[in-house]
Amino acid sequence: MEYNVKTSTPEKVKTACIVVPVFESNKLSPAAIALNSATGNSLSKILRKGDIQGKVGQTLLIHNLSGIGADRVLLVGCGKEPDVSEQDYRKICTASITAQRTFGASESICLLHTLNVDGRDLPWKIIQAVRIFQASKDRKDQLKSNHDDTEISLKKITWLTASKDEQAAVNKGIKIGSAIANGVTLCKELGDLPGNICTPTYLAEHAKSMQNQLKKFKTTVLEEKHMAELGMGALLSVSRGSCQPAKFIIMEYNGGKRGAKPIVLVGKGLTFDSGGISIKPSPAMDEMKYDMCGGASVFGTLQAIAEMELPINVVGVVPSSENMPDGDANKPGDIVTSLSGQTIEVLNTDAEGRLILCDALTYSEKFNPELVIDIATLTGACIVALGHVAAGLLSNTQTLAHDLLLAGEESGDRCWQLPLWDEYQDSLKSNFADMANIGSRSAGTITAACFLSRYTKNYPWAHLDVAGTAWNSGGGNEKGSTGRPVPLLVQFLLSKV
Ligand code: BES
Ligand code: MN
Ligand code: ZN
Repeated sequence: MEYNVKTSTPEKVKTACIVVPVFESNKLSPAAIALNSATGNSLSKILRKGDIQGKVGQTLLIHNLSGIGADRVLLVGCGKEPDVSEQDYRKICTASITAQRTFGASESICLLHTLNVDGRDLPWKIIQAVRIFQASKDRKDQLKSNHDDTEISLKKITWLTASKDEQAAVNKGIKIGSAIANGVTLCKELGDLPGNICTPTYLAEHAKSMQNQLKKFKTTVLEEKHMAELGMGALLSVSRGSCQPAKFIIMEYNGGKRGAKPIVLVGKGLTFDSGGISIKPSPAMDEMKYDMCGGASVFGTLQAIAEMELPINVVGVVPSSENMPDGDANKPGDIVTSLSGQTIEVLNTDAEGRLILCDALTYSEKFNPELVIDIATLTGACIVALGHVAAGLLSNTQTLAHDLLLAGEESGDRCWQLPLWDEYQDSLKSNFADMANIGSRSAGTITAACFLSRYTKNYPWAHLDVAGTAWNSGGGNEKGSTGRPVPLLVQFLLSKV
């Protein structure tokens, strides 16, 4: 899809379809008023007939109005004027693109940005719209023999501005929105791939292909032999139970000044989590193919910022492995030595995410980072605490936590902070090693973060637990990767420019 901006008036502009807001009680938006006057009050007459009540998300397509430059008018219900909530604005954008997918216009003019969204500026409205319009193209049927490759007619959407001054703001929104949307699409595609295709090797190959596609981008992949030489005993203990070799993927985007400290993003890339010897129950175990979604979000975020050519340095680190039961797998009670030198008693082989992350977090010191954020589908407990709305956020630096909370609000991809108080550290005590890999039954998301905090003492660090937000589960057609938290991370990085 192509996006554009143009300065003209609703009644004059020539287009296959013009998309304008209408409100409840037959109220028209300024753009609809302009069309109404030019067409001898046709719109008010139609509204009075009651074919659309102006409720949020309703649409009505009208053909052949004379007196205006548009072939079609798509009315979109926007609720009670004049202000709409962020949520309603998104619903309105979704309704408009859903309707436009069904008819034959090859381009359209959009006026949904003329709505007032409390506290949000023009670029914000365009970013949200582009993200929603782009997401409407995302497909999940690539592995079906009869997958749907039919292209929709709509190829171009143009926002109509009243003055040329607004064009720069729209163009900025288009650029950022497209980059986020492409990052989200990549994250979703990788997430939805099954474990037998999306192996650690597959992710490593994909990272290498990104080096060829993107500027200022370098990919390095460490093999198990190299990891063993470095001493990544925690990560390798997880991988030992699998036939698939682990890969340690490093992606460096150098858009900033030489020598400027990078922001490091560490993503859990567990391509299938069976639980290992502490095996998981069968129901919904297929969803553990999504245990690499943290890693996928690092791929998506790096792609987005490289596409925007942001002037910052960012390193993506994705430790990737399977967690399988095997004669050589971790056993409960095994003690392993992490890259940091700290020893870990593996009381539950299903708490494997922290084992691969701790070595990646220690390794990240090597980049002399400004800050480190890890992203992981780490605990089922996070779903109990926050459901599927917000990601869990824990941090050793309050200013960093604050910036992430803000980026979450701004992007609509929210996180919520949980405490990382010392009192919670006690539950990781082990009689035989420096720490156990699990805490007691309660506060599972916090004790998992406590575990990670022991490997992140040398830099500002935040942890995002995306167990509840990275994918939609269940049997319905909503099941699939969400692409979160790519919007949150890109927004955060934009705020650092
Ligand atoms: N990948 C899982 C966490 C998970 C489970 C995410 C379900 C989303 C849905 C992680 O590796 C895991 O198994 N965590 C355990 C930790 C426990 C053994 C302390 C959990 O949450 O049950
Ligand atoms: Mn697990
Ligand atoms: Zn896991």
